[in-house]
Amino acid sequence: MSLYLVTGGAGFIGSHLVEELLRRGEQVRVLDNLSTGKRENLAAWIDRIEFLEGDIRSYHIVREAVKGVDYVLHQGALPSVPRSVRDPITSNEVNVGGTLNLLDAARDAGVKRLVYASSSSVYGANPALPKREDMVPHPISPYAVSKLAGEQYCHVFSRTYGLETVALRYFNVFGPRQDPQSAYSAFIPRFIVGIMQGRRLVIDGDGSQSRDFTFVSNVVQANLRAAAVPGVGGEVFNVACGAAMSVNEIVAHLRQAIGTEGQIEHGPARTGDVPQSLADVSRARARLGYDPEVSARQGLDRVVAWFRERL
Ligand SMILES: NC(=O)c1ccc[n+]([C@@H]2O[C@H](COP(=O)([O-])OP(=O)(O)OC[C@H]3O[C@@H](n4cnc5c(N)ncnc54)[C@H](O)[C@@H]3O)[C@@H](O)[C@H]2O)c1
Repeated sequence: MSLYLVTGGAGFIGSHLVEELLRRGEQVRVLDNLSTGKRENLAAWIDRIEFLEGDIRSYHIVREAVKGVDYVLHQGALPSVPRSVRDPITSNEVNVGGTLNLLDAARDAGVKRLVYASSSSVYGANPALPKREDMVPHPISPYAVSKLAGEQYCHVFSRTYGLETVALRYFNVFGPRQDPQSAYSAFIPRFIVGIMQGRRLVIDGDGSQSRDFTFVSNVVQANLRAAAVPGVGGEVFNVACGAAMSVNEIVAHLRQAIGTEGQIEHGPARTGDVPQSLADVSRARARLGYDPEVSARQGLDRVVAWFRERL
């Protein structure tokens, strides 16, 4: 049994990591300041984990949090592009400063490996498809800059201090417990709940924009492999399905799965939205043994069922 620290463990992806780690019989500590995460995401397991309510911007708290830890799964961040456009300084403090605190403390605590949640947004304006890890990153938002800076700090901590780190570039993750309500909510949970409730929904642009939508269980699998597989310290991997769906295709699938049309209109395209995103996941397959077992369509059906039980 190993001790895992999951930063951002009260968030969407973090809480799925906690659930799977407990299922595997591991020990779990969570560090989260509940800024975008929720206590209720951990309610089912709160008696079986150590929950530290605290901020990764605090060096002192982070040092306490890594004591005795074998592996860090670092999910804690302000995850939204529009939020970072509105307030780049706070996104930088949390995503870059917080990551640096954690790396520094993890090195001193003798952590075996730190897995870092990066993002497909680092590819930004680079138009080549599919996205490969060896492409030159081209961030076009403060959020993407912060995620890339975190990745590069991870790489430098591997090279300079011998702290093993692995960066995973997640592509548009979705699944149960993703918040449908905040101003910064991702499109899939917002649309599922909106269609179910018959609310008016607006698709940005003509809906032909496509993404490599990734069900959360695939991301969990990638994290646990990235922590365990030997010889991958300092590396970067795409985590996705390796298949794209357009926003219109997603909406059509959701309408069918939910059994109602909803009220959906098209609005202006969002500035800075890239038309297409698609990952090449061959490096993760080869080096981590990663296999995206749940397709986007299967994932959509699961998440519709999850929201249906709760609404
Ligand atoms: N969801 C996606 O599609 C996606 C895509 C690419 C990358 N990511 C990355 O995955 C990670 C998890 O994202 P998510 O979708 O689960 O978002 P989330 O908002 O649900 O989770 C982030 C968690 O971090 C916590 N947090 C924020 N600031 C903190 C701070 N200063 N100190 C301690 N905890 C703090 C929040 O309270 C929350 O629980 C993030 O690093 C994000 O950048 C997500």
